[in-house]
Amino acid sequence: MSRVVLGVSGGIAAYKAAELLRRFTESGHDVTVVPTAAALHFVGAPTWSALSGKPVATEVWDHVHEVPHVRIGQSADLVVVAPATADLLAKAAHGMADDLLTNTLLTARCPVVFAPAMHTEMWEHAATRANVATLRERGCLVIEPAEGRLTGADSGKGRLPDPDEIYDVCVDVLARGFGPGSPSRQDLAGRQVVVSAGGTREYLDPVRFLGNRSSGRQGYALARAAASRGAEVTLVAANTSLPDPAGVKVVRVETTEQLRTEVLAAAASADAVVMAAAPADFRPVSVSGAKIKKADDGSAPGLELIQNPDILRELSATRPRPGAVIVGFAAETGDDHSTVLELGRAKLARKGCDLLVVNDVSGGAVFGSADNEAVVLGADGSETAVPRGSKTALAHVIWDEVARRLQD
Ligand code: CTP
Repeated sequence: MSRVVLGVSGGIAAYKAAELLRRFTESGHDVTVVPTAAALHFVGAPTWSALSGKPVATEVWDHVHEVPHVRIGQSADLVVVAPATADLLAKAAHGMADDLLTNTLLTARCPVVFAPAMHTEMWEHAATRANVATLRERGCLVIEPAEGRLTGADSGKGRLPDPDEIYDVCVDVLARGFGPGSPSRQDLAGRQVVVSAGGTREYLDPVRFLGNRSSGRQGYALARAAASRGAEVTLVAANTSLPDPAGVKVVRVETTEQLRTEVLAAAASADAVVMAAAPADFRPVSVSGAKIKKADDGSAPGLELIQNPDILRELSATRPRPGAVIVGFAAETGDDHSTVLELGRAKLARKGCDLLVVNDVSGGAVFGSADNEAVVLGADGSETAVPRGSKTALAHVIWDEVARRLQD
């Protein structure tokens, strides 16, 4: 059981931290909440206490005999501050310690994650930029705020990322470590990567389409993992309903043709492209401008299809940026003649990509689930088996393979 310290500073987004706290406690983490005095103006101590099952303190003067200002930080496996206000980031960057949370940050020797939330002007201010840079240099993980509606009528960058999103980042950090000495730390810094996710829709008329069962979860896990390793990530998302990963540029598309346009545009400057999307292989020859009506005689309209462009094959053949690593996915079911791996090898050769992630989908087990099991095949003959585990774990194995090839 991991010991998590949830620091909450004084912003309106403090109410969302209650949801984050729930995610931690429901998944069996031992959470100590350390709100600042300002945070208690937004959400009171009884809420934190009830949801964490522990007393809550804000000042170093509470429970002094237990020396909480040292003990809480020292014994934590992870400290996450959500929301982290501009003021809290400034204090942390300068090593100030005037309350229990800032003392905890100074004594923590574990990974520290900040999830900032503030108005766009504050986030973009040179002082905040410098403080964030200092914290990152020191090995803290500062999640990029999300874009969208802020307090009041304005909108822009500065929203607290979705609590699920912060939770996923924290679980990833707990599993892999972060900070000085962590092997994966920022090995994709300075790299641009493109990930496609989701399933495309091919419209028959304004309301009907051909689609598929892809949820986009694997692509989102890939985008999140790349961002946590320092990459600048463009996620081209087809018809997904997942929260935007923090710090990732999300481009939304519907059809395979739109997916192709956006992926090729982003690939021109990318060091790696991962095609985790499930683009439809076929689309109707023509799209009716009006909703197709039911015929009175009980007949159904014919459906004539043509093939869509194969984006992965095109990327591999044209190589928009020389030296970029191109990764494809293959959902296969074995048959009487060939195993899943033999089919995967043949597909790798046919598509011409550098890596192919082969899923055995006999029985439809993978779609929409949080877990995945795969073999990552390399055009160089490499074969990396990834046992059943989270899509995040598979994502990191894929980026390990990509990072190795980028260094070669
Ligand atoms: N893919 C693509 N463009 C398409 C279809 C698929 O880029 N129009 C990509 C997917 O994103 C995935 C990979 O190709 O990375 C494998 O897709 P899959 O549908 O399994 O391959 P098939 O289209 O079935 O290949 P083939 O018909 O050659 O077996």
